[in-house]
Amino acid sequence: MRTRVTALLKIRYPIIQGGMQWVGRAELASAVSHAGGLGILTSLTQPTPQALGEEIDRCRRMTSEPFGVNLTVLPTANPPRYDDYLGVAIDRQVPVLETAGSNMATFIARAKAAGMVVVHKCTSVRHALSAQAHGVDAVSIDGFEAAGHAGEDDIGALVLIRIAARRLAVPVVASGGIADGAAMAAVMALGAEGVNMGTRFCATQEAPLHPNIKRALVSATERDTKLIFRTLRNTGRVLRNAISEEVVAREQAPGGATFPDLHPLVAGARGRSALERGAVDDGLVWAGQSVGVIDDLPTCGDLIARMVAEYREAIARCQAAALE
Ligand SMILES: Cc1cc2nc3c(=O)[nH]c(=O)nc-3n(C[C@H](O)[C@H](O)[C@H](O)COP(=O)(O)O)c2cc1C
Repeated sequence: MRTRVTALLKIRYPIIQGGMQWVGRAELASAVSHAGGLGILTSLTQPTPQALGEEIDRCRRMTSEPFGVNLTVLPTANPPRYDDYLGVAIDRQVPVLETAGSNMATFIARAKAAGMVVVHKCTSVRHALSAQAHGVDAVSIDGFEAAGHAGEDDIGALVLIRIAARRLAVPVVASGGIADGAAMAAVMALGAEGVNMGTRFCATQEAPLHPNIKRALVSATERDTKLIFRTLRNTGRVLRNAISEEVVAREQAPGGATFPDLHPLVAGARGRSALERGAVDDGLVWAGQSVGVIDDLPTCGDLIARMVAEYREAIARCQAAALE
């Protein structure tokens, strides 16, 4: 396939695996890149910048295809050494940086000056326009369907991607709710030049997740996600489980809840341990509405090949309808 996104990222298919905390490791990123998409290592999954460097080296040993690094900047009392993580990606000459979060201008400028291709992921057209003004090469836009922090605007991808494609000069990558080639055809028809997926890539053979978690994703329906942290204006979409139900209940109880109140339930270490042990109800499992579309656990290679075939079928179907 050929779009501005495949040319920019030097990949065969415009299919990106978005950064994913605890999941974006070399096993998954290398498999996606090897299959012709763009795999992304998640910086903050690594405990130190040095460990990110080792993960980059490991990924390079697993694939000779290009892959990227995600840098997610979230409001926190104790910020990690973001600059040092980026420095490691620059020193290792990783070709692509996916940025997410707020106040990214200095990181974007530094990555661009070092020759990286920068794709900024955001959840609104106004943030996409501001990223474009800061010089990013492309934007990924997460619709309301997406896993993770999909913002407070609650606009679905169908509307968001259409407006973004009309208003931006840089290429738009559609993200959120995409899990097969028909959805890819839909967003490409809206003007996107690539897709970004998270949840779908969690349900693959290579995703470093316990089989119980993968089974939970396969059996979930489109109604099995929850929006947490709504009352704190930091909304996140996760799988419906005992923890997310409890978080929402505490937020909705009289007096509400603060982040410190919720911390024992949502702490990153707890989520990570639940993912590793397969304890589906003991930590947050980030997942989007596309879980309803997912019903198998293919390899990344089979998934990407199937998506491309489905994409072509969908285009042919639309073409046939246009001719009637
Ligand atoms: C398990 C998981 C963890 C995620 N962690 C991050 C993260 O650390 N940084 C980030 O920018 N996006 C993160 N995301 C969002 C994805 O990169 C992607 O934008 C989103 O999943 C797209 O929506 P979809 O799940 O409907 O495909 C995460 C998603 C999942 C499923």
